[in-house]
Amino acid sequence: MVRIAQLLEQGQAWSRRVWSAARSTHVWDAVVGILAARLLARGKCYIAWQGRSLPRPERAETPLKLPLPLATDERSAEVQRRYFESADAARFRWTTGAPGFAETEDDLLAPFVETIVGPCLEIGCGEGNNLVRLLRCGSCVGVDLYPRKLYFAAAHLPEARFAAADATALPFRAAAFGSVFIRDLLHHVPAPDRVLVEAVRVLAPGGRFWLLEPNGRNPLVRLQAHLVAAEAGVLGSSTSSIVRLLSTLPLTRLEVRTLQPLPLRRMVLHYRFGLPALGQISAMRRMLAGIEWLASRTLPPSRWAYIAATAERADVG
Ligand SMILES: C[S@@+](CC[C@H](N)C(=O)[O-])C[C@H]1O[C@@H](n2cnc3c(N)ncnc32)[C@H](O)[C@@H]1O
Repeated sequence: MVRIAQLLEQGQAWSRRVWSAARSTHVWDAVVGILAARLLARGKCYIAWQGRSLPRPERAETPLKLPLPLATDERSAEVQRRYFESADAARFRWTTGAPGFAETEDDLLAPFVETIVGPCLEIGCGEGNNLVRLLRCGSCVGVDLYPRKLYFAAAHLPEARFAAADATALPFRAAAFGSVFIRDLLHHVPAPDRVLVEAVRVLAPGGRFWLLEPNGRNPLVRLQAHLVAAEAGVLGSSTSSIVRLLSTLPLTRLEVRTLQPLPLRRMVLHYRFGLPALGQISAMRRMLAGIEWLASRTLPPSRWAYIAATAERADVG
């Protein structure tokens, strides 16, 4: 009996140790590291493409013409242009229809879609991945800097309207929109504060403002920032940096929270780096969702993947 009691006690001590290790955020960093090695092997061609900067000589004897060194601002603008100038049809299909992943996008946007007031503007709409959902609640306009993305979006979402413009100079009158939605844009632009001033200018008094930005403190988001040059800006993104940006604007009822503790389904089922076919297996979907749930119990909310800010335009008249 004494032996059994000792064994039970030992078992409890072990389970406490395992649980406290799982609660340590370093464990999640390690899990992400292992996944990264796996994904790196799959994605290395893509990453090599991301990093290409020098022209390749056609023949060995062709002298290599080095581009003049660019100023940091110009270089980062060039990195962004290369990353965004084309439409990514595969990404559109993945975010809007891939089993196991598209539903996580539906869940992420559901709170905003439910409270939308038309007409709604998405700034930095890309191929229209979010507009697919936003359109369910009324009329929408999408703005993006790159026309090829807009041609793609217009072909797939004929009910929406589009304008090619810089987010810091929107071609709309003040107070033209009932809602403004911005996702994954601020860390790609040199002056996020100017984007937000424009967003609030075109929002009607009482209109809904919704911002979604990746959190640079999340292990998976950090990993992406290190792998993809155009995503490096996200390392400076945190709940406090977002609050700082928004607190100077004429907004009321500002609420900032974090969502998606560890978006494993985004990573494992990724259309380019991952194995999207796994999303068709319901046991796999359940397992990934289970690990994400475990992460929600252990990773502090300050390190969850998405920062979501909601607010209303103050009536400053
Ligand atoms: C990471 S993507 C996000 C796209 C979309 N919001 C989504 O969540 O799927 C960023 C988008 O912002 C656009 N963009 C980048 N700089 C911009 C600027 N200065 N003005 C307007 N759009 C811009 C890019 O072309 C790209 O479509």
